[in-house]
Amino acid sequence: MSQIKIFDTTLRDGEQSPGVNLNQLEKMEIAKQLERLGIDRMEAGFPASSKGDFNAVKAIAETIKETSITGLARSVKSEVDISWEALKSSAEPCLHLVLATSPIHMTYKLKKSPDQVIEMAVNSVAYARKKFPQVQWSAEDASRSDLPFLAQIIERVIDAGATVINLPDTVGYTTPIEYGKMFRYIKENVPNIDRVHLSCHCHNDLGMAVANSLAAIENGVTQVEGTINGIGERAGNTALEEVAVALKIRGDYYKHTTGMRLEEIKRTSDLVSKLTGMQIQANKAITGRNAFAHESGIHQDGVLKHAATYEIITPEMVGVNKNTIFLGKHSGRHAFTVRLKELGYELTEEKLQEAFEAFKLLTDRKKEITDDDLFTILMEVQTDTSAINKYELEMFQVQYGTENVPTATVVLNTPENKRVEKACTGQGSVEALYETLDAIIQEELQLVDYQLSSVGRGKDALAESYVQMIVNGEPVNGRGTAQDVIEASANAFLNAVNRYVIQAQSKQNQKTGTTK
Ligand code: KIV
Ligand code: ZN
Repeated sequence: MSQIKIFDTTLRDGEQSPGVNLNQLEKMEIAKQLERLGIDRMEAGFPASSKGDFNAVKAIAETIKETSITGLARSVKSEVDISWEALKSSAEPCLHLVLATSPIHMTYKLKKSPDQVIEMAVNSVAYARKKFPQVQWSAEDASRSDLPFLAQIIERVIDAGATVINLPDTVGYTTPIEYGKMFRYIKENVPNIDRVHLSCHCHNDLGMAVANSLAAIENGVTQVEGTINGIGERAGNTALEEVAVALKIRGDYYKHTTGMRLEEIKRTSDLVSKLTGMQIQANKAITGRNAFAHESGIHQDGVLKHAATYEIITPEMVGVNKNTIFLGKHSGRHAFTVRLKELGYELTEEKLQEAFEAFKLLTDRKKEITDDDLFTILMEVQTDTSAINKYELEMFQVQYGTENVPTATVVLNTPENKRVEKACTGQGSVEALYETLDAIIQEELQLVDYQLSSVGRGKDALAESYVQMIVNGEPVNGRGTAQDVIEASANAFLNAVNRYVIQAQSKQNQKTGTTK
């Protein structure tokens, strides 16, 4: 059994999912959980693409020490230099250089001849290796590239110092047999290929990303790239948790393992889903709500007699059903702190106190506090931005009845410290509330998506709302939780607007040189 390396790009390719927009604190939360999950390398962003991405990659490289951190760059010296500044404090800094090699990309996008592309690739890798101990080179759109040309350019970038060669199926076009053959060809036709790790990276446009990645493993790759829950551009990327569990369950066939701590999968999946606002489809393999649910009588009967009749993966293996109820009204600070430690959280004294107070408030309204509830509290506490001027809800009231026109009254404090009160009507209670908030908030707002769900089960479960909005022309998302669905909806709306306000303030501060 040899170990396949897991390269996670949730924070780069995953963050390119339409409507996803994570702030630095959220990226850090995901990075810490990916470290707990035991992945080998994490692509934290594209440092040269924006100041925000640079800062997030830098902070992650400074904090995460068990996992190698990488960042994406194009074949441009200035991008290599900027990436080095962001990544140099990682335990093992790695640069991920990308350059397209397919005829269609070279002709229409790059407007370069194949020889010019080889020159660019070689020069950028040689330059990057002067700084980085690890340089991964990716042939974008490899699966639609000419194989002899691919072999030629790979040989040259390995000579220039690349340590990993990644061959993406950028547009999700290939089939498992074709993708496997491409790796076989490269292994047989690139004389220096044994000096590097060979890596696959698949997109899911035809629903074959996981199958293609497994085919690549069968044909000699030693690294698999992907994201948690398979999020990413268009139809997404390879779902890493599915690859890791397939290798575990079908070890008899694949004869490979990974270093992934499978029992951390559910928690990682939930965190990514919550912070990105991308819900997991109920029947998704491994992490979907129904992945372990047996509905038909025949199946239930079989499972009761012997679980293995219809169950090839146990829920416990991937961290499902660990959500035991353990804390409640009578639990003290000690039990609370111990449980947070078990969940992998070490908070500062101040944040711990804040989290404990939020927990106590919740126990007044909810009898049984689950791990999911604790996660929700922790996310609220850790993404706290109380030092920043933003919109704050002082109070609201919504009147709804089958015989009334739904009406909302809201009192909001604005970033300019003005207290504004307004009332509006709508077709329903959420619409009335959102109309009123919109009437007070100065920014131009457009609601694109609105979702409401419950955290866990039971009548007293917390409500969680997620919105996607366009604020002054910029896409932002927002999340809110509360005991009540209307309050959760108000919180999500304000969270989205405040994320815009905070970003705009920090851009303004950067321009004027002010720090806050
Ligand atoms: O899909 C792709 O080709 C990529 C590269 C940057 C590796 O994401
Ligand atoms: Zn990709």
